[in-house]
Amino acid sequence: MRNDQLITAKQLSRGDIEDVLDRAAEFDADPSAFRDRHADAILGLLFFEPSTRTKMSFETAIKRIGGDTVDMGTVESSSVKKGESLADTARVIEGYADALVLRHPSQGAAKMVGEFVDVPLLNAGDGAGHHPTQTLLDLYTIRENAGLDDLTIGIMGDLKYGRTVHSLAHALTNFDADQHFVSPESLQLPRSVRYDLHESGAMVREHTELDDILPSLDVLYVTRIQRERFPDENEYQEIAGEYGIDLETLEPAKDDLTVMHPLPRVDEIAPEVDDTDYATYFEQAHNGVPVRMALLDQMLEDGQ
Ligand code: NCD
Repeated sequence: MRNDQLITAKQLSRGDIEDVLDRAAEFDADPSAFRDRHADAILGLLFFEPSTRTKMSFETAIKRIGGDTVDMGTVESSSVKKGESLADTARVIEGYADALVLRHPSQGAAKMVGEFVDVPLLNAGDGAGHHPTQTLLDLYTIRENAGLDDLTIGIMGDLKYGRTVHSLAHALTNFDADQHFVSPESLQLPRSVRYDLHESGAMVREHTELDDILPSLDVLYVTRIQRERFPDENEYQEIAGEYGIDLETLEPAKDDLTVMHPLPRVDEIAPEVDDTDYATYFEQAHNGVPVRMALLDQMLEDGQ
């Protein structure tokens, strides 16, 4: 895979991750110090699925390093509505932009587009596949709050369809991290992800109840049940609301537990948790800007 394409978290080594996180820390310390770094760079936004954080933090990041965006807009308002293929759309927009960010409902979409375009490409989520830029900001947040080595993390919720989970679990195999997966049986990790984790030497420990492991955790990473990916709404209704946390659930947790969530949340974390020291999910979302500044900086340099 080209080094100016970030398609899955599987391609990230520990060194790659540390380079981005170290650079992000520099951007974080003084975001306005880099405003002329990539003057005139244009980032093409191709979002075929809803997005708030990912899209807006990419927009903020490119503007903070001197660039700007061109945005395909919604699927409804674009030529996709007229039947244009994804490959054609991407090939057209690469002519307007110095790098592309793609979010698409189909798993594998970013890999496919990567075969057609020459400018740097960042996968901002491909269906139930991967979301590697989210993972980098997750790792940045973990490093700041709990450290990446000697880490015990619980990843809870929709492990089957949750692309942030797939990417994070892969990336964590680069570190000395004990990973516990908590979900209903029907939403356990997909076989392909479990296989890859085993291949990289990670132990996959699965639980159906959080209570079993909560007291040992340094980080609890909560995720939304991905309603839009369920083939059958009844299946969603059967487990909706089952995997939530509130102050009572968190009582057995360590005092310095870090609670994360890629957001948006629906009802997985009660709002009463927001005012505790556990709550790190808004900080996590804010970290999207320095981390994406660092990534774009690197990609725009590699792509030259
Ligand atoms: C996530 C996604 O799109 O996969 N959101 C995000 O990018 N922060 C998580 C989700 O939608 O549940």
